[in-house]
Amino acid sequence: MKVDGTHYRAIWRDADTGEVMILDQRWLPHNFHVVPLKSLDEFAVAIRDMWVRGAPLIGATAAYGVAVEMARDASDASLDNAWDVLHETRPTAINLRWALDDMRERLRGTPEADRPALAMKRAGEIADEDVETNRMIGVHGLEIIREIAKTKKPGEPVNILTHCNAGWVATVDWGTATSPIYHAVEAGIPVHVWVDETRPRNQGAQLTAWELNSHGIPHHLVVDNAGGHLMQHGQVDLVIVGTDRTTARGDVCNKIGTYLKALAARDNGIPFYVALPSTTIDWTVDDGVKEIPIENRHESEVTRVFGKLEDGSVTSVQISPDGTPGENPAFDVTPARLVTGLITERGVAAASREGLLGLFPERQTTAA
Ligand code: MRU
Repeated sequence: MKVDGTHYRAIWRDADTGEVMILDQRWLPHNFHVVPLKSLDEFAVAIRDMWVRGAPLIGATAAYGVAVEMARDASDASLDNAWDVLHETRPTAINLRWALDDMRERLRGTPEADRPALAMKRAGEIADEDVETNRMIGVHGLEIIREIAKTKKPGEPVNILTHCNAGWVATVDWGTATSPIYHAVEAGIPVHVWVDETRPRNQGAQLTAWELNSHGIPHHLVVDNAGGHLMQHGQVDLVIVGTDRTTARGDVCNKIGTYLKALAARDNGIPFYVALPSTTIDWTVDDGVKEIPIENRHESEVTRVFGKLEDGSVTSVQISPDGTPGENPAFDVTPARLVTGLITERGVAAASREGLLGLFPERQTTAA
């Protein structure tokens, strides 16, 4: 997508140096920092400390991290170590494990001398595949928006609520939840987006709002607790969120607070869709509440907020009393029964084992 008229992906290789470059998302929306990642340790820090974040982007970044490490040492021991170091950075998004497994399996059967080039080629393919996958999510999701526009909101904007950032900076490009929105705008369908701020890290306020603002898409930022009220008053036509891991039966793990939006949507008869690449499906897991590891992050993300002061400087401030501890579960699980449908690159599936296997029949043998 474009930033000030220039096309960017969220991760790419510099055309001159070959270095892997990222947008350091910690500073958005106030500062736009592009930085290279040069070593395995730098990749691990960038994922753990959320310089890059969002399930698909975490996966693509890990793939490039393996490639950079292979250029330094292409031995089996180094490959296994890269898998371990990167895998322990964040526990919930399954795209991380998917990308690491993909890289290791392909590299294992390859002579060491060929590994650096193969690894970089495959990391590039993973990034390119993510872009195409997300584009197709948009193509399929667009039809949902088009139908609502036609049947319920002729001549009026379709109001879409989203949570966290499942936008282009959470992926390599397009985003997942935002791809149908970008496609709807391109198709000339009027939309308006309610952007949940998404405490504690405010990915909605800082990233989704920045993306939509940059693309001139009508939106308002709302506090996380406003969603239920807006739904009760007919101001939300559709919810679309992303996911960090979706189970074989369609339970959806996503940023903390997603479950409450799904409950409110169900109570108000509002369709609740989840947009995801198939790399986010964990076919080995069935019951998301019991089986998905939920990342617990540092309490300072709860007790402090980051923002811009009137003098233009950016800083973080404490919002709670000295000594009040914070608790910070970063994700929750929305049971499949609350999900209207799963928007994937192959089409829209019911949130159920049958629905997912209908689109991905080759998974029949691997599903939990
Ligand atoms: O903690 P984050 O910012 O990595 O969490 C991101 C989300 O929860 C996104 O909604 C999810 O990864 C889908 S991104 C396309």
